[in-house]
Amino acid sequence: MSQVRELDKAELLAVLDWYRAAGVDLAVGEDPVDRFAKSAAPQPAQQARQAATPNAPARIPATAAITGDPSEARRLAATAQSLDELRTILEAYNGCSLKFRATQLVFADGNPEAKIVLIGEAPGAEEDRQGKPFVGRSGQLLDRMLGAIGLDRTKVFIVNTVPWRPPGNRTPTPEEMELCLPFLNRQVELVAPRLVMTLGGPAMQTVFKTTSGIIKMRGRWQDVSIGTHEVPALPTLHPAYLLRNPAAKQQAWADLLSLKMKMDSLGLS
Ligand code: URA
Repeated sequence: MSQVRELDKAELLAVLDWYRAAGVDLAVGEDPVDRFAKSAAPQPAQQARQAATPNAPARIPATAAITGDPSEARRLAATAQSLDELRTILEAYNGCSLKFRATQLVFADGNPEAKIVLIGEAPGAEEDRQGKPFVGRSGQLLDRMLGAIGLDRTKVFIVNTVPWRPPGNRTPTPEEMELCLPFLNRQVELVAPRLVMTLGGPAMQTVFKTTSGIIKMRGRWQDVSIGTHEVPALPTLHPAYLLRNPAAKQQAWADLLSLKMKMDSLGLS
């Protein structure tokens, strides 16, 4: 039989590293819970069902996966006449299963009257905790990037392709992004910006309706329709990518200068 021994500090740190790599980065309680014992025990509803139908199988199937209906999301989003209404609708919306693994809705940040909208991918751990987009490490870099061309959060409005954190910071699936797209579209329609900048591949693919890669597409302005709103949009690299690949900051800088020139030409500076 294997011996149980206490782990030393290095081993404990290795376990924490392993958890973090697996996407477990939030402690939800002080004491350990034996979920295996819990799920093996019959649940009250199951007990009642078994009492009523003694020959029924002991275990009931898990709740079916929640697969939202994009046309329902479109219908709901279209009813919002303001960002506050849209936030309330999203808070009540249960069609996207990401919601049930996230701490809270990450709706938007910045100035709702801004002339520039930035679209990121999805909230991460820090955004999930604070309920605001781009407040973690990549958000700090984004703030510095904006500052370099005279912008800050009073001059832009920031949203994501999905407003709930995907578990373990994975990329949202195309289905999740499609489901949340009516809400993103409505956010942009309600702000009605003069310019849009997308951050990273998934946001670029969603907004530009393309499967091309970000490295090929970045830095090229295109007129796009976001919902019913037509607007020039510029794809650039995601700040998280820049943190991992500092050499690419040169390209991001070129994109920021391009944004600044466009702002100047439209009298938005
Ligand atoms: N990355 C994103 O794309 N969005 C956030 O809000 C945070 C990190």
